[in-house]
Amino acid sequence: MNKSKKLSAEVKFNNIITHPLDPLSFDEINKISEIVKAKSDLGKELLFETIMLLEPTKEKVLSFKKGDHIDRNAFVVVLNFKEEKIYELEINLISEKIHRCEFIPNVQPAFIFGDLEMDFNEWESKMKKDPKVIEALKKRGITDPDLLQIDPWPISNFGNKDEEGKRLAIGRCWIRREPEDNAYARPIEGLSIILDLNKNEVVDIQDFGTVPIPPNDGNYSQNYQKEFRTDLKPIEITQPEGPSFKVDGNEVKWQKWNLRIGFTKREGLVIHTVGYEDNGKLRPILYRASLSEMIVPYGDPTNDHFKKQVFDAGEVGIGKCANSLELGCDCLGEIRYFDASLFDIRGNATLIKNAICMHEEDYGILWKHTDTRTGEVETRRSRRLVISSIVTVGNYEYGFFWYFYQDGGIEYEVKLTGIVNSSAVPPGVKPKHGTLVAPQVVAHNHQHFFNVRLDMMVDGIENSVYEVDTILDPISEENKHGNAFSTKKTLIQNEGEGARIVDPFAARYWTISNNSKKNYMGEPVSYKIAPGENLLPFSHKDSVVNKRAGFMNAHLWVTQFNNKELYASGDYPQQHPGGDGLPKWIQSKRDTKDKDLVVWYTLGHNHIPRLEDWPVMPVAYIGFSIKPSGFFDKNPALDVPPSNNHSCSSGCNCCN
Ligand code: CU
Repeated sequence: MNKSKKLSAEVKFNNIITHPLDPLSFDEINKISEIVKAKSDLGKELLFETIMLLEPTKEKVLSFKKGDHIDRNAFVVVLNFKEEKIYELEINLISEKIHRCEFIPNVQPAFIFGDLEMDFNEWESKMKKDPKVIEALKKRGITDPDLLQIDPWPISNFGNKDEEGKRLAIGRCWIRREPEDNAYARPIEGLSIILDLNKNEVVDIQDFGTVPIPPNDGNYSQNYQKEFRTDLKPIEITQPEGPSFKVDGNEVKWQKWNLRIGFTKREGLVIHTVGYEDNGKLRPILYRASLSEMIVPYGDPTNDHFKKQVFDAGEVGIGKCANSLELGCDCLGEIRYFDASLFDIRGNATLIKNAICMHEEDYGILWKHTDTRTGEVETRRSRRLVISSIVTVGNYEYGFFWYFYQDGGIEYEVKLTGIVNSSAVPPGVKPKHGTLVAPQVVAHNHQHFFNVRLDMMVDGIENSVYEVDTILDPISEENKHGNAFSTKKTLIQNEGEGARIVDPFAARYWTISNNSKKNYMGEPVSYKIAPGENLLPFSHKDSVVNKRAGFMNAHLWVTQFNNKELYASGDYPQQHPGGDGLPKWIQSKRDTKDKDLVVWYTLGHNHIPRLEDWPVMPVAYIGFSIKPSGFFDKNPALDVPPSNNHSCSSGCNCCN
């Protein structure tokens, strides 16, 4: 609490609001929690789950002109942890009035640990000192609970009547050999601590039997590394005239791109109002883009490992877990950082310095041709604008990267790193549902599913989505030699026809088209979703995880815009039995032809752990692209100037 107060005096730069989509400032967040505490009458025992900007309507945002009056509204979720009740509030910051205050029954908030007096570390200390925990540790020969690490995991919902209405978590345990080493090398298998998060107490110990603690350390930090390789020469990224982007508040202009940067506790990085300047006119492409939800289902059926299925956005909060990024380590070159103003559970504003990194990267060749008759060579180098944020969720790290290219393309990439979740097996046991990554340490098979919500706006609000497959033409009079192939384009007429899956053998992609705007060749202007690596969940259709995270079961979902539909598994996935979010919304089969549409793309990554993932995992990548497909009349990057940078030490003209 003191830390937040101290910061308040230092934070001046983050408080100027110049646009209706600017995230809530540090001061605004403090003001909101003060209004809730003073005017809501919800009791003194309030903990804050959400404080975020309640975005104005699209019409208001799109008609906004610099200098116009900016109305500011906030959406707040609070928990009265004594009464175990959750409330949603809408607050106007100008009038300081609460416009809506509503009790939300039968839901649980995202993770909140502690109370008005107790922060997470103090909370963990209290749990460690519980006599039931000490007794369970003693059984395993562990006498120093200070070296214990309790990671709280969501308990999911397997229909256990005793859990109904309670705010619970499972404490999974690891034991360090010394205070600074890697706890995940020494899992305490078979010990699950059931935690009541409202009462802040241990309610039960589930002991599945003792398994020896694995013998080896798994340290990766530089303090434990005996020697480093010595043959690396420095790489310097220099931009002597500075970067090519311009930043005004949260607005970014980079060459022909124009966009705004936002941030929320739940989604982390948000990209708003993306447009591209074409022949002097700013053409809209995307109204809002963000990670709407993600889940990591684990594939081991033993003990209570089957309950491991975490919604890292909805149950934890991706923005809340954001790292403060460091120059030269996380980001290289001429960097512009953005800070994020968030809040602690008491509603005090907090600041994550350098939560978002923006820079330019050389990206190899943009295009090239050699005219073999004239000998003329034309090459352009590609440069991309990178906007990213990296988060730590327990043992894992995720980097979320948006790339903007000079040819009008956009790419989304997730970088997965950190430490694989570890369990222990007795000596000599070879686990079926995971990989032994060190003696007696198993990393279970698991998957990572991300859903990206793309509120599209291709040259205007009203868009349509088409599925495009490449098909082999039948042998016929026209196709005598069997070489012919063509494309088959199918309109997704309503939400019920959405929920599509990738088909790499049909080279399937989806276009988002504006039927009222035609390109040079008379076709509707379009952007396309080009899938990358993807797959479906390895869990049965009627399994708990499949019901709770139904968005995993299709890769492309299409819905009519609704400002209440932001998160692919619904607003409150914590302990939710399932059925909320995308699979529910599409039941109404709303018309999707020439409408204000939201496209939701799910990308899945399979993780069968490797020995090389231990003790810390080299980055794995997964992503997809959003590319112009008849949006421009020709290659929009012809005007990128030739490069005259010959900076190799050997004097060569290197291109790749
Ligand atoms: Cu993984």
